[in-house]
Amino acid sequence: MPTAALSIPLVDVESGQVSARAFSDAAIYRQEIERIFGRSWLFVAHESELPRPGSFVTRWMGEDPVIVCRGTDERIRIFLNACRHRGRRVCADDLGQAAQFRCPYHGWTYSAQGELVGVPFLAAYQDRLDLPNLGLWQAPRVASCHGLVFASWAAEGPGLDEYLGPHGWVFDLLFGRSEAMEVVGPPQRWVVGANWKLGAANFAGDGYHVANTHGYIDALGMRNPRPGRAGSTTVPAPFGHLANLVKWPPGTPCGEYLALPPQLWPEIERRLSAEQLGVMKALRVIAGNAFPNLSFLETASTEMEEWAGECDYPAMSFLTIRQWQPRGVDRMEVWSWQLMDRNAPEPWKRASQACYQREFGMAGVFEQDDVENWAGISEGLRSPAAQGLALQYRMGLDVPLPTAWPGPGLAYVDPPLSELSERLFYGHWQEAILQDEPPGDARRSEADG
Ligand code: FES
Ligand SMILES: [Fe+2]
Repeated sequence: MPTAALSIPLVDVESGQVSARAFSDAAIYRQEIERIFGRSWLFVAHESELPRPGSFVTRWMGEDPVIVCRGTDERIRIFLNACRHRGRRVCADDLGQAAQFRCPYHGWTYSAQGELVGVPFLAAYQDRLDLPNLGLWQAPRVASCHGLVFASWAAEGPGLDEYLGPHGWVFDLLFGRSEAMEVVGPPQRWVVGANWKLGAANFAGDGYHVANTHGYIDALGMRNPRPGRAGSTTVPAPFGHLANLVKWPPGTPCGEYLALPPQLWPEIERRLSAEQLGVMKALRVIAGNAFPNLSFLETASTEMEEWAGECDYPAMSFLTIRQWQPRGVDRMEVWSWQLMDRNAPEPWKRASQACYQREFGMAGVFEQDDVENWAGISEGLRSPAAQGLALQYRMGLDVPLPTAWPGPGLAYVDPPLSELSERLFYGHWQEAILQDEPPGDARRSEADG
């Protein structure tokens, strides 16, 4: 029997309930594409994917296909992948090196800076084309944080630093600790028949699913049992970002600094503050989600002890970022990158890569378990009768108030098991889709003007 339908539209943070329609209603999906993906800062690429002038990758900002290109002036720009003549996609490649982008249809040609530099039979237009204003349509704002490139269609609003807020402190631990961080090859991509929020909210902090969904790993004896309960800290930030920092359980033989190799420690110790080092030294896992759809996970693993042993490390770890790209109300494309500290020793890099593949690559054991459940949710919620369901996020409603911690803002230190992070994620999501029409959405300007 369905529980009572919500009396509030979609999300009730106070009672910890979310309407099934948040995951299945096409009109709500359109609204989030406009108001969240049309306005937020969205991750588009890592700078190491664009090593030279002319380097480009094609990506998505919500449902907008874009080209991320480093111009001959070294500046990274984001172009809508649509010709200004008739709208044909001008670049069909996933990545490459280009001096220009030539539209396959009639041959209009754009420079790596996006300017329209070639129009076949131009004279036939009898000077009626406004050439300087017919460059590829550009996202008005582009900014980087530790090599992660973000863009926004909103001409106005908080800058990236303000948007990330206290989350930037956690980004320092993950992405700013090294002199250089680089992607391991192009991202792995796969399609999942599930709403994009299910991935984002899971990484924002669904600790509850781990015992059941991934429990067979322990049941089959695939890793060393960990004595004791691990301490953790949940770090919320404005704009809907969440991070979770998990320590090694007491008494576990472990690797400090997320099991990163000792050769990196002097570099890390030079680059991070004393407070950051104090927090990071004891950590086993950092997981979270930068709103709306960029999740991150760095986890040390003892499942891979055979690899770790070969390298003489007590545990092995890897760092992945992933995006949940909306492709309709019950479909998403998952993009997953592994990031590597460039100065790590080569044997460690190889072991770390194998660890990522085995756990969170496309066929990774954790990844497979998770996406099966998310697809099962979207399948269940396609039912017309399910539209009235109020889904339950009520665990730990009486969670203690946040307190000071070594990082900025307030955090929940050693919180009991709860669904707090997901409540915060969906609470912000609701605010974002109910906000007034975003000002300065660059995608609208031309049609409106
Ligand atoms: S559609 Fe691109 S040149 Fe005509
Ligand atoms: Fe999981």
